Amino acid sequence: MKVNPQLNDVQTEIEEVRAYFDRVASTYEDNPWYLAQGNSVRRFVTKATTGSVLDIGCGTGWLLRQILQDRPGWMGTGVDLSPLMVETARRKAVADKILDLEFIEGNWETSPFTKTGFSTALCVSTFHYFADPQTSARKVHDALAPGGQFLLMDRELEGAFLNKIWDTMHKWCIKDHCRFYRSSFLIQLLTEAGFSNVKIAARIKKYFWKGKLQTNLVLLSGTAS
Ligand SMILES: C[S@@+](CC[C@H](N)C(=O)[O-])C[C@H]1O[C@@H](n2cnc3c(N)ncnc32)[C@H](O)[C@@H]1O
Repeated sequence: MKVNPQLNDVQTEIEEVRAYFDRVASTYEDNPWYLAQGNSVRRFVTKATTGSVLDIGCGTGWLLRQILQDRPGWMGTGVDLSPLMVETARRKAVADKILDLEFIEGNWETSPFTKTGFSTALCVSTFHYFADPQTSARKVHDALAPGGQFLLMDRELEGAFLNKIWDTMHKWCIKDHCRFYRSSFLIQLLTEAGFSNVKIAARIKKYFWKGKLQTNLVLLSGTAS
C-alpha cells in the first residue's frame, strides 16, 4: 500500500481513536444512527442453527448481542481497540445474560489474533479506520472457516457529497489514515484478499436518517475460500 509521507504517525492516530471511543463508550448505544446500521446488517447474517461470529471493531457489542439472541447456540467474539468499549460490551452481555460472548481488547491491524474457523465475520463502521486495509482484510479472511461469510458495512464514496468532503478533510487537513472508499475499490480489495462472490448486498441512501444528514452506506458480502 502506498503511504503518503505527510500523514500523521499511525500510533498517535490510534491513541486518538482509542481515546475518542473511550470517551463515548458509556453513551454509544444512545446514538440511533449506529444501532440502525447494525440492525441493517443483522438480517444478512446466515440463519444456520450453529455458528460463530467475529465482530471486528465491535464497539459495545450491541450487534453481537442481537445476533446471539436471534440465534441461540451461536458463539461470538468481539475485538475492539477501546478498553472502555470492551468493558461496556462485557458488562452489557452479562446484564442481558448472554454468556457465549467474549470480548478482546486489541488493534485488529497489529495485535496477534490466532482464533480461526469463524462462520461469520462482521466489520461495521470500522473499516475506514484501518491504515492498511489490504492486510486487515486478509486477516479477516484468515480468521474465517472456508465458506464463511464476511459482511462489511461502511460509508460509500459514490454519490455521497458529505462522505467526499469528509474523505478529503481526512486526507488533506486532518492528515490521518481514515478513508472512505468507492464500493468498486472495496470489491476489488476483498477479492484480492481471497474472498469469492464479493458483491453489494445492500445500500442505504437517505437524506435524513436516524438524526443524521445524508447517509450513504454500503454493505458488502463475500465468502472465504
Ligand atoms: C463507529 S464504531 C462502530 C462500532 C460497532 N461496529 C457498531 O457498528 O456500532 C468504531 C469502532 O471501531 C473501533 N476501532 C477503530 N479502529 C480499530 C482497530 N484498529 N482495531 C479494533 N477496533 C478498532 C473503535 O474503538 C470503535 O469502537
